[in-house]
Amino acid sequence: MNDRSEPAAAVPRHVAIVMDGNGRWAKSRYMPRFFGHKQGVDALVRTVLACADRGVEYLTVFAFSSENWKRPTEEVSGLMGLVLVAVSKYLAKLAGDGVRVRIVGDRAQVSDKLREAWQHAEDSTRQNTRINLSVAFNYGGRWDIVQACRQAMAAGVRAEELDETKLNSYMALSYAPDPDLFIRTGGEVRISNFLLWQAAYSELVFTDCLWPEFGDEELDAALAQYARRERRFGAVSSRSALASAGS
Ligand code: FPP
Repeated sequence: MNDRSEPAAAVPRHVAIVMDGNGRWAKSRYMPRFFGHKQGVDALVRTVLACADRGVEYLTVFAFSSENWKRPTEEVSGLMGLVLVAVSKYLAKLAGDGVRVRIVGDRAQVSDKLREAWQHAEDSTRQNTRINLSVAFNYGGRWDIVQACRQAMAAGVRAEELDETKLNSYMALSYAPDPDLFIRTGGEVRISNFLLWQAAYSELVFTDCLWPEFGDEELDAALAQYARRERRFGAVSSRSALASAGS
């Protein structure tokens, strides 16, 4: 959890992305939605490396939400299959480029094959330190809060011991600082149950760019917006503080 109260650093330590717009991108090309998700994987790999090049330490992406099970069975199984293809196609490259991969979300519902692929991705990149990629899969912000409470209760944490820091230690992203920058592509302006706890003070950037088209230009534009923001974490702005100090 992040309780800093300082101006935005030039480069965010942690970027979170809702990778939206795959379906519309494919539809505009008269292609099936799956084709958009496939291109979405390529955009993800590009973005991980671009973030690493710019000094971002943590990148967390929303790949499959707790609510995405409501999509047509064909699309859901296509997305599951795509994970297996993506791991076999890109894991060696990401591992070689210093990317540490972690999966966050409820693993209970996914197939053994998928769980094994995730485990393999995590195990084979454990030593890497250049950038931490967290893939949120079967994840929801509300699920995360509930599972953290359950873990705390199972560990015997007493009500009077529980504070924000303690609860955060049970959250899925407890190893990472809170996201500094939260980007959503695809034109929708909502958080959609992603990182509800962690994004309390994230700077939000929404772009119409559809995820398969996200590249250096869009990333740099989001980073530039972030660098212009003044982060207050609930305190007064440094401009008002200076003005009252001078009065
Ligand atoms: C939202 O676009 C995107 C998703 C639900 C899936 C995101 C997944 C990927 C980018 C690739 C999978 C990732 C891994 C790690 C294998 P949408 O389908 O809602 O698009 P739309 O809003 O245009 O319909």
